[in-house]
Amino acid sequence: MAAEDRIRWDGIFRQRVSQPYPPADPLLLQYAPPPGDDDARALDLAAGVGQNGLWLAQEGYTVDIIDISRIALRRALSEQTMRNLRNVNLLQMDVDDLRLDAKRYDVVCVFRYLKRHLFPLLKRSVKPGGRIIYSTFNVDYLDVVPQFNKKFLLDLGELEGYFSDWQLVYSEDVGHVSHLVAIKPEI
Ligand SMILES: C[S@@+](CC[C@H](N)C(=O)[O-])C[C@H]1O[C@@H](n2cnc3c(N)ncnc32)[C@H](O)[C@@H]1O
Repeated sequence: MAAEDRIRWDGIFRQRVSQPYPPADPLLLQYAPPPGDDDARALDLAAGVGQNGLWLAQEGYTVDIIDISRIALRRALSEQTMRNLRNVNLLQMDVDDLRLDAKRYDVVCVFRYLKRHLFPLLKRSVKPGGRIIYSTFNVDYLDVVPQFNKKFLLDLGELEGYFSDWQLVYSEDVGHVSHLVAIKPEI
């Protein structure tokens, strides 16, 4: 499965290679706080070409950017080099092999990706007082792409359920995309 995913996504990113580099997501711009100290760390999971992770790095976070696609990460590396950012770790990895230290990150962001079994791991990886910024497609996306695999789509309101024990900063289903920003309790 990992090999299939990598080949498929490498193909998609190869086709996009001449497209302009995408901007960071507005949800991140609005809800990622400035880094609190020199050790502030962030994770951009299933990052694609890394536009969100690189923005966090520019803000001063040390960022782990993880994706299965070598082609996507190659684009992230060239952009990182162009922006002269040193505080970035580009990691080619299948999320199913993911191991994350507990309380490692001040910010974890995931955009346009869903594997439900990752929620406990992601929650554990956030520092107390840190936050998750999550945004991906929900079931209304079937109105746009009827053949889309439903297992990769959130139910409406589903994201909130995973973070009911956290402080909700923002949670909304906007059309076919669900957004959530939540802060991990200090204790
Ligand atoms: C829709 S793209 C979103 C990319 C980026 N987060 C964004 O919003 O532009 C989904 C990403 O998930 C990555 N991906 C798919 N399966 C993966 C896996 N098993 N492990 C790690 N990354 C994976 C793909 O390579 C792709 O970059």
